[in-house]
Amino acid sequence: MVAGNFSQDRDSSISTTPIAVIIRGYVILHDIMNEEGNHSKNNGRVAVVTGSSKGIGKAIATEFANAGYSVVLNARNEVELKQAAEDISKSIKDSRKVVSISGDISQEPVCISLIEGTVKQFGRIDVLVNNAGIGGESKKIHELTEKEWDEVIDINLKGTFLCTREAVKNMMKSGSNIQGNANNCSIINISSVHEQIPQPESAPYAASKGGMEMLTKTAALELADSGIRVNGIAPGAIATDMNKEVLENQEKKEKKEQRIPVHRIGQPEEIAKVALFLASENASYIAGTTIYVDGGLTLVS
Ligand SMILES: NC(=O)c1ccc[n+]([C@@H]2O[C@H](COP(=O)([O-])OP(=O)(O)OC[C@H]3O[C@@H](n4cnc5c(N)ncnc54)[C@H](OP(=O)(O)O)[C@@H]3O)[C@@H](O)[C@H]2O)c1
Repeated sequence: MVAGNFSQDRDSSISTTPIAVIIRGYVILHDIMNEEGNHSKNNGRVAVVTGSSKGIGKAIATEFANAGYSVVLNARNEVELKQAAEDISKSIKDSRKVVSISGDISQEPVCISLIEGTVKQFGRIDVLVNNAGIGGESKKIHELTEKEWDEVIDINLKGTFLCTREAVKNMMKSGSNIQGNANNCSIINISSVHEQIPQPESAPYAASKGGMEMLTKTAALELADSGIRVNGIAPGAIATDMNKEVLENQEKKEKKEQRIPVHRIGQPEEIAKVALFLASENASYIAGTTIYVDGGLTLVS
């Protein structure tokens, strides 16, 4: 197990100090100079996105980086993670604001080092996106082993709890405003339409996402008066490796698209834009809600 292997994709000669001015709990927006001497957007906020080496997580990290956040990426596969960090650094032309910390978020020490590493690097954490997740084996309940059940629940549900717990502790400390509360901090859980729609041969997956819905609501209720909003996003079918089999089979793809009211599979960026909205001041009155981003799939399921 890699316990939060901390790698920073940047030139060591570049300053490691994030530039954020916080006056009475409010982050003052300003620009910083990137490596080419140009001004790059910086909103002084820091977002951690689990499972961000590809798919929805990478799109979310990219969206936040483009909006001026410093971002911390995470996944188990270090090669893919490093590549994702490089891609995002290139797209914002600034490697100082992209850090990767590899590791399996179903392991407690990894979640602790992920959040501690973030705070060490950037001094704060404003947003946590619990995105890392796996589908698991396609099997009926009576065919599932204990190990197969545990793997899905441990990554999708326990990992979300562990990262949330560590982030909340630090949000309460690092995002303090004058009342001693966090300042527009946000936790966003990437769930699934299967938190509501049963999915045969995917009991651990559907159960993990169902659990995530109640974790979102309970955490939202506990934290609402601390300045930390907790919300969920429930994607429908999105074009990522998780749907590789369908995407590579034209017949299966068309069948799936027919069922979706908007008649197409969604793009990871369409989830990322909703995540950025939920983390923003525009969503300041949204707490404990799950937004379905599914092309209308839940209407016909
Ligand atoms: N695609 C869809 O249609 C769809 C629909 C509904 C919900 N979702 C949800 O959206 C989230 C992202 O899915 P996706 O479609 O983008 O999947 P994906 O393309 O397979 O990407 C999953 C990401 O999570 C990482 N990951 C998996 N297990 C991890 C662990 N234990 N610790 C740290 N990182 C881990 C993967 O990297 P490593 O393998 O290297 O760790 C990868 O970066 C999941 O929670 C999924 O349930 C997806």
